[in-house]
Amino acid sequence: MPISNAIALLPTPFYQPIGNEMALFEYAYRNQLPLLIKGPTGCGKTRFIRHMASRLGRPLFTVACHDDLTASDLVGRHLIGESATYWQDGPLTAAVRVGGICYLDEVVEARKDTTVVLHPLADDRRILPIDRTGELLNAPAEFMLVVSYNPGYQNFLKGMKPSTRQRFISMRFQFPKPEVEQIILIQESGIEPSMASQLVTLAGALRALKDHDLEESVSTRLLIYAAKLIKDGFSPIESCRSAMIETLTDDLETVHGLMEVVHAVFGE
Ligand SMILES: Nc1ncnc2c1ncn2[C@@H]1O[C@H](COP(=O)(O)OP(=O)(O)O)[C@@H](O)[C@H]1O
Ligand SMILES: [Mg+2]
Repeated sequence: MPISNAIALLPTPFYQPIGNEMALFEYAYRNQLPLLIKGPTGCGKTRFIRHMASRLGRPLFTVACHDDLTASDLVGRHLIGESATYWQDGPLTAAVRVGGICYLDEVVEARKDTTVVLHPLADDRRILPIDRTGELLNAPAEFMLVVSYNPGYQNFLKGMKPSTRQRFISMRFQFPKPEVEQIILIQESGIEPSMASQLVTLAGALRALKDHDLEESVSTRLLIYAAKLIKDGFSPIESCRSAMIETLTDDLETVHGLMEVVHAVFGE
């Protein structure tokens, strides 16, 4: 079963804009255009969508896509009840019915048969045919399809097909500028501004390194983890080791190399 959850009108989570993404999202929503968000892990994509769904007052249906995820996982299936079988909507169908936002995270992981249901919903037809029940749903104006993927670690063959890509407005997320990332760190962890500033400096130095073949660099999420440990009194250097460096790599030599950068920033 897909991991899905309708987050019904919870308090709006904190989101610090990094560019014009909030305006673009609202324009896309108003014009009934689906949205593709690409960006590295831990840069704020999920937080952004939760924030926007809440701002727009729409329920959010999130699906973490994986390589076994099929069209039925999205649309729904018949289940066996006590006396008879009954139909259960999948998260995509549920979002279409109530006019919610359906967010497919790491969409390129999903099985290819999912494109069959996504295409007619993502273009101007905005329809969801449910073959198994014979229903044909017209998406209401409030329904929005949002997908994300991480271009960084995509297997080349797994990229999105042009016929799918070209149905979406596209948005690129990158790690926030230092002054913005500092605000996020302070807000999310309660850490002192001077410590947040040092962590952001460290992130800049680590992200600039090219000679270690890391799959991904340090994300805003990992900076927040380190900040939380530090805020609670754990040593900054050891916090960075556990929350950032050991998370990024298994290679001991690389750990030593990256820890030198940590020592340089924290001056011990
Ligand atoms: N612009 C931002 N505003 C507020 N919090 C952010 C922002 N960017 C990142 N974060 C923080 O970083 C964490 C990871 O972001 P998330 O949205 O889960 O990343 P992604 O979905 O891109 O992997 C969030 O839980 C949040 O604490
Ligand atoms: Mg996410």
